[in-house]
Amino acid sequence: MFLPARRAKASAWLALAAALAGAPGAVGCGKKPVTFEPAEIERHSMLAGVSPGFLLGAATSAYQIEGGNQNDWTDWEAGHYPDGQPHVSDGSTAARAADSWNRWRQDVVALEDLGANVYRLGVEWSRLEPAEGAWDAVAAARYREMLMALLAARPHPIRPMLNLYHFTLPRWVAARGGWEWSGAPQAFAAFAARAADAFGDLVDLWCTLNEPNVYVVKGYLAGQWPPGVRDPARGARVLARLLDAHGLAAAALRAHDRVDSDGDGAATRIGLAHNVRVFDPEGGPVDALVARSADDFYNRVIPEAVATGHVHISLPTVVTIDEAAPGLRGSFDWLGINYYTRDIIRSRIARALTGRGPPYEVVADAAGSRARSDMGWEIYPEGLYRLLLTFARYGWPIIVTESGLADRAGTVRPGYIRSHIYAIDRARAEGVPVVGYLHWSLIDNFEWSRGYTGRFGLYTIDFAGDPELTRRPTPAVKTFQELAAVLGLLPPPPAP
Ligand code: NOJ
Repeated sequence: MFLPARRAKASAWLALAAALAGAPGAVGCGKKPVTFEPAEIERHSMLAGVSPGFLLGAATSAYQIEGGNQNDWTDWEAGHYPDGQPHVSDGSTAARAADSWNRWRQDVVALEDLGANVYRLGVEWSRLEPAEGAWDAVAAARYREMLMALLAARPHPIRPMLNLYHFTLPRWVAARGGWEWSGAPQAFAAFAARAADAFGDLVDLWCTLNEPNVYVVKGYLAGQWPPGVRDPARGARVLARLLDAHGLAAAALRAHDRVDSDGDGAATRIGLAHNVRVFDPEGGPVDALVARSADDFYNRVIPEAVATGHVHISLPTVVTIDEAAPGLRGSFDWLGINYYTRDIIRSRIARALTGRGPPYEVVADAAGSRARSDMGWEIYPEGLYRLLLTFARYGWPIIVTESGLADRAGTVRPGYIRSHIYAIDRARAEGVPVVGYLHWSLIDNFEWSRGYTGRFGLYTIDFAGDPELTRRPTPAVKTFQELAAVLGLLPPPPAP
């Protein structure tokens, strides 16, 4: 995923290859060889000993579930690649999605049934601010209704974690160049301020941005998401812009949300959701070098910038960004990590240098024994454990803001949850301050360029056949309820 092969533009890959060639020595990514034993996971007592305040819930994003939005993604969905293939592989759109804009009460019921105590949901910038400086008070009122319903949920309140940017931009921002527009961070911070004014009395947990690195890779390296660019130099600048936007938005949230709605002593608890991925070399030193370089760019730029107040992104011969960003320091109350899988890297430097493709390909694990999700992603819970140990060194409390898999049949998800909770528990046992786990996703939804082919929901939806879009529990709901029972959020399950 980091450097997808599709539609690679020679000059871009050349540039990246040059960058990789200049990378420092390989040390790998969260290198700690470990293999989980299935029997050990089976015996493990999930979440034993977590503090009562542990956040247990699920996540969604506004565009992927709401329906009825109009933004840069809506425009992208209507487009095609030069070879005639639609931008969304199954030709679908998010026009209706799960219709959560109208059916959100069903989502709250689903969360109640799970026993969740937190829900990460998005507010859609283009809906609330359809033109620069405008504010849709009716839409804001509906979001308030949702937030109030979460806080009034049974058998206990569900804390909202409100996400402000999740890959979609209002058309008026996109028309000015999206995140390449120098005014975008300020515009986003102004939106954050208004969101804080509108929802701050109901929300303490704020997530400014979702996966800036994925946005850059998909939108500016692979050209698979809007704006459909393949230019690493522009991508690097956009990543810096997004960091800037995060810093300004965090300051705006702190200035505008002064209400400690959950009474825990803080009006705001701010973070962002960072997609992390293990990059393991398949073999020798060149693979290791390339894997290390991918790890640096993908996993480390963001937390390093926030920890140091300095943005450092280096793509030698293409662009080096070295900018003081003092506003970033202190902008995290927590680090959100979205974890799905790993890439095993076989370097293809020669290919890249001759402009024939990206500098590596992703290969199967040596034994070829690892299960994969419906979308082909390796199921590798050890990676979550390794990355948690890696990110612990920054000292922020960590919330797993997403973890999950595409599993249309719903049969693999229970085991997936168990093994990833096991990973979290092992990391906690080694002192990593993991304070929450949010499954992606609550319900099936619009999986970006994969349309409705990737089914991530704890609750599944028959988009084509069920006009009511009923949220139907998959077997993993029971697994999740077992977790909730451990935390005392639901009564213990009946003895078998
Ligand atoms: C992470 C993204 O935040 C979300 O939008 C996406 O659906 C999931 N990954 C699964 O790909």
